[in-house]
Amino acid sequence: MKIQIKSIEDFKTVINKARHFRLENGRPFVTVTYAQSLDGSIATVNRQQMQLSGEESMHLTHRLRALNRSILVGIGTVLADNPSLTTRLVVGDSPQPIILDTNLRTPPNAKLVTRQDLSTWIVNGNVATNGRYRRLQQKGATLISCRCDDNGWIDLGALMAQLAERKIDSLMVEGGARVITSFIRWRLADLFVVTVAPKLVGGLPVLDTHSYRSKAYLQLDDVHYQKIGKDLILWARPQWGAS
Ligand SMILES: NC(=O)c1ccc[n+]([C@@H]2O[C@H](COP(=O)([O-])OP(=O)(O)OC[C@H]3O[C@@H](n4cnc5c(N)ncnc54)[C@H](OP(=O)(O)O)[C@@H]3O)[C@@H](O)[C@H]2O)c1
Repeated sequence: MKIQIKSIEDFKTVINKARHFRLENGRPFVTVTYAQSLDGSIATVNRQQMQLSGEESMHLTHRLRALNRSILVGIGTVLADNPSLTTRLVVGDSPQPIILDTNLRTPPNAKLVTRQDLSTWIVNGNVATNGRYRRLQQKGATLISCRCDDNGWIDLGALMAQLAERKIDSLMVEGGARVITSFIRWRLADLFVVTVAPKLVGGLPVLDTHSYRSKAYLQLDDVHYQKIGKDLILWARPQWGAS
């Protein structure tokens, strides 16, 4: 799918072909998206949420959400930010929310669990059906078990196959640092949409150096820059070299 992606309009064209992408690749089309400061921070140094994007670029993020079939975050983000992952700023359906949560640490009162419109999928490492498991189910979450990788985390390759089986054509990965790093480590990113806010934070870097363990730099290709409000939006594709 070699379409130049410079804007949300081009992204729509890609999404229109996402079913074909899934059938050909056995996984959804994956867009990794996050907001960072000029120094590459995505949160405070204590992993606390901070407002990085301006209003206009938040709007773009919600439009991206509305175009994707699913949206994924890690349990670290759920515990730090308690996000809803809705499309409240735009007209359009909310994507299917997915949490990577190996040991079922998601609080039963988390906004994603108590959402009325969709049942959040909590992907866990085949945990025992304990009290927390049942409470999350009672609150409306769907629990999905998945194999773990060498980090003891959800095996993303196995998860992608499960999502394809569930006919999920597109996936938006919204963070946080460890999750973004894993998708890069496993070369499971097809597009990056990064909001760069004109701020210096000295906070949590987007790449988690403990789990990255790669000797190669990731080069981004087909890079396009768009200015929205005070922010810069980078649209780019990863160029996976030999590692
Ligand atoms: N600026 C932005 O755009 C943005 C967006 C989102 C989040 N954030 C920030 O990011 C921070 C959270 O990042 P984080 O690194 O602490 O947490 P995270 O990436 O949200 O979640 C990481 C956790 O997810 C679980 N996990 C399960 N399978 C995984 C896999 N294959 N790969 C990676 N993790 C997996 C692990 O916990 P278990 O072992 O318990 O399963 C892991 O510790 C917060 O400060 C938040 O504000 C910023």
